[in-house]
Amino acid sequence: MGADIRFDGQVVIVTGAGGGLGRSHALEFARRGAKVVVNDLGAAVDGSGGSSAAAEAVVAEIAAAGGEAIADGASVTNDAGVAAMVERAVAKWGRIDVLIANAGILRDKSFAKMEVADFASVVDVHLMGTVKPVKAVWEIMRSQNYGRIVVTTSSTGLYGNFGQSNYGAAKLALVGFMNTLKLEGGKNDIRVNAISPVAATRMTDSLMPPEMLTKLAPEHVTPGVVYLASQEAPTGAILTAGAGVFALAQIVETDGAYLGTGASAEAVRDNWREITDPAGGEAYQSGAGQTQKFLRKSAE
Ligand code: NAI
Repeated sequence: MGADIRFDGQVVIVTGAGGGLGRSHALEFARRGAKVVVNDLGAAVDGSGGSSAAAEAVVAEIAAAGGEAIADGASVTNDAGVAAMVERAVAKWGRIDVLIANAGILRDKSFAKMEVADFASVVDVHLMGTVKPVKAVWEIMRSQNYGRIVVTTSSTGLYGNFGQSNYGAAKLALVGFMNTLKLEGGKNDIRVNAISPVAATRMTDSLMPPEMLTKLAPEHVTPGVVYLASQEAPTGAILTAGAGVFALAQIVETDGAYLGTGASAEAVRDNWREITDPAGGEAYQSGAGQTQKFLRKSAE
């Protein structure tokens, strides 16, 4: 067993930290010695409205427990607001070590009934609302030769959920974003991971029965996020977490079948069993892993 995970001297930004999971993460980073930027627009679940009161309340909680934090009311989709948040943190504390991109909204409807505008706004908050804060800290982390980034994905993105085509698309986009950042960040010790939480928050109030909600406190997810943001963190991991359970989600490709360069659609049909046989499947570390397999198998 190693030493306790600490963040003394480190600066951590948590977006969407005015309530739910983000609040729980912010409190725990502060408890472990971090200086914390508590960002929250103070919006309703659908993204409407806004006030920095929620972020300020979490800062007050941190201060009451002897920690150090500042509140920030910028929307994660607002370029100027995100830039000002990062500048303020650097001016006050001199660095940014950790970014937890957690802010999010829902606009659930079956795809048949969904307006494209509801699709676009969910993609904007989750995807661009992660990309913009990451972009704002990326050069800082590169110049420090240190950074930890955690994006927040979802079982809806990984596996699907009725009524959440917009949300699922946005959430799995973050895994794609992580997959390349983990490669580009490597030489500067920037590690990028994803958390896939399940927690009882206002976001899930309407989706889960009351007996489930008690088991699923956000505090049971936070240890996973803290580890993914620590010095010993892995990179490129998708950690699923909820109710005290932690697991790794992976995108695994089967070994597949070489059917020849002239293979027909019928050959694909007739070899479906071999194509989909899970034996020998692999989770590639980059896209090149797949290309290498194709070339190797075609030469066998
Ligand atoms: P929540 O609604 O309590 O927290 C989301 C926070 O983000 C809110 O405080 C909201 O004001 C803030 N926010 C929304 N738009 C913002 C913007 N443009 N700029 C800044 N802040 C903004 O919900 P919860 O459950 O804590 O969600 C946190 C994250 O975890 C989200 O990304 C969500 O999609 C994700 N998630 C949650 C799951 C769950 O079971 N609760 C499951 C899978 C993913």
